[in-house]
Amino acid sequence: MVKIDVPAYVENQELIEWVTRMAEHCRPEAVHWCDGSQEEYDRLCQEMVERGTFIRLNPEKRPNSYLARSHPSDVARVEDRTFVCSISKSDAGPTNNWMNPKEMKAILNAKFDGCMRGRTMYVIPFCMGPIGSPISQFGVQITDSPYVVVSMRIMTRMGRRALDALGQGEFVHCLHSVGMPLAPGQRDVAWPCAPDPKDKYIVHFPEERAVVSFGSGYGGNALLGKKCLALRIASVIGRDEGWLAEHMLIVGVQSPDGRKDYVCAAFPSACGKTNFAMMIPPKPFRDEGWRITVVGDDIAWIKPDEEGKLRAINPEAGFFGVAPGTNYATNPNAMETIRANTIFTNVALTDDGDVWWEGMDGEPPAHLIDWQGNHWTPGCGRKAAHPNARFTAPITQCPVVDEHFDDPRGVLVSAFIFGGRRSAVAPLVLQSFNWAFGVYMAATMGSEMTAAAFGNIGEVRRDPFAMLPFAGYHMGDYFSHWLNFGRSIPEPPRIFSVNWFRKDEAGNYLWKGFGENMRILKWIVERARGRSIGIETPLGWQPRYDDIDWRGLEDFTREDFARVMSIDRDVWLKEIASHDELFFKLYDRLPKEMTFIRELLVSNLWRAPEKGRAYPERLEPPKPKPS
Ligand code: GTP
Ligand code: SPV
Ligand code: MN
Repeated sequence: MVKIDVPAYVENQELIEWVTRMAEHCRPEAVHWCDGSQEEYDRLCQEMVERGTFIRLNPEKRPNSYLARSHPSDVARVEDRTFVCSISKSDAGPTNNWMNPKEMKAILNAKFDGCMRGRTMYVIPFCMGPIGSPISQFGVQITDSPYVVVSMRIMTRMGRRALDALGQGEFVHCLHSVGMPLAPGQRDVAWPCAPDPKDKYIVHFPEERAVVSFGSGYGGNALLGKKCLALRIASVIGRDEGWLAEHMLIVGVQSPDGRKDYVCAAFPSACGKTNFAMMIPPKPFRDEGWRITVVGDDIAWIKPDEEGKLRAINPEAGFFGVAPGTNYATNPNAMETIRANTIFTNVALTDDGDVWWEGMDGEPPAHLIDWQGNHWTPGCGRKAAHPNARFTAPITQCPVVDEHFDDPRGVLVSAFIFGGRRSAVAPLVLQSFNWAFGVYMAATMGSEMTAAAFGNIGEVRRDPFAMLPFAGYHMGDYFSHWLNFGRSIPEPPRIFSVNWFRKDEAGNYLWKGFGENMRILKWIVERARGRSIGIETPLGWQPRYDDIDWRGLEDFTREDFARVMSIDRDVWLKEIASHDELFFKLYDRLPKEMTFIRELLVSNLWRAPEKGRAYPERLEPPKPKPS
């Protein structure tokens, strides 16, 4: 039987007992308690280099950085193998896969029996959120993947300091195995996993606050602090305790007068959270003193403080960002963040030992090794990097990390933004009439498929609150929780929706996006402060052309603006009719406000003028007569 040398500093009895039980069950060759030190990180990376899991990048080009190539079957989250095993099926709701927890445990028990043979079992104590924050949560992940250990060191506050803060307290049990035991003498592979999708299980037991993951070593399937704990389990804790766990970035917006607002924004996977969170404002804005700072790029935990004001923390400590498309024009701050101490997964390798991906600056190199380890030349017809290739880097390396990123009290939230990827229908920006209308807009958010989601690329799927794959309970109850939450706080933040992705008939983007989004963000922040002007449309308030700051983008005309802002009555009547598909699915727990608001929006639209022209220009209020 495996010897479990428990270090003297480990005092949590429940932890010691759980690790002992799991070691007996999974039968690893050794057990290692992670202390989170640099020495431990370097040693594990070196071991992975020797075993072929990691390629050390050229230290002159990319100091302290590594490339990992995953198995081609293990490149993204597996939504169809993700389960929420609440005791009652109806608590998981129709948008989650469910199985009876007893049945699921029987399956998992068999899978984990001896599953770590020939491998080391790592014990990773971690804290999601600043250590000492009343909003933070502790977890401990058991895993047989050293890639997970080093990734968790970047993505969470992990090791000794988390364990010391945990003391005898409670923690979320996170059990993980790549699902590939080694027979005596069997050679390991560079990326062990269970290649057959049916052997992968990403399982949540919300009542027990536990996660069990088998068969995948990639991203959200394997770094269990992220989607599993910080979204699926935390959303359940938040529902029970009166707070929110959201798929949102947190960004600080400082205006020239020194005032700073924080905004939380929910966009579905691969729809621009990382870009938006660290965007560089256009030059005239920077010159004037507008500053953008990042608190988080993927997940926000939001709790009312003693005064009922909303405070947000980023439970993570790093970025696990999409690499393709990232370059010095679209996201210079991300490029600076990943200059060193970064783990790259499934990007291409250059001949001089650096990384490359589609959409990086400059011409594609004449030769590369692609993400599957094959030779690659421009025009060979294959992608050099996987579309969901990612970088893992500490948030503290970001040039615009917010000064309160690690603040245990969190930051005050002034506004919420929701945005999907819609080539038609949804206007550039819209402010909801009130909290309940905002909840409706977020609940019915749609987005076109990307490589990170599942389905046919380009097809619109409803992705309520960008949480479709992440809500750990019934989506109808989740809407109710949002409605109740808004009622329980004295001044709920204003809610906005945006769409950076609108296209013309030829398929060209109508809006340049990226840094230009600052113009919209400025209007939003000023609206939230009660300053800027908005004009009423059937769906909410919108800025007129003259309400947006166009300095530096004067060639964006009134006509261009009208096109990205337009709300087409007939198209929207169809859009709202299509919301029913989601509502029917959730009917048993759909809050009735959703139906009432739907009716209001429809009657608003019927009163609206037919077809075409943008509301803001049409509804220009009469100018006051000169006296
Ligand atoms: P997850 O990490 O998967 O949750 O996603 P994310 O929301 O952080 O995704 P990310 O920021 O990596 O999204 C990247 C994709 O969005 C790339 O395809 C970008 O080109 C695109 N993108 C980001 N911002 C904009 C924008 O303002 N306009 C346009 N057109 N595309 C954008
Ligand atoms: C997402 O898919 O929304 C991600 C990446 O942020 S992963 O952590 O793999 O889920
Ligand atoms: Mn995400």
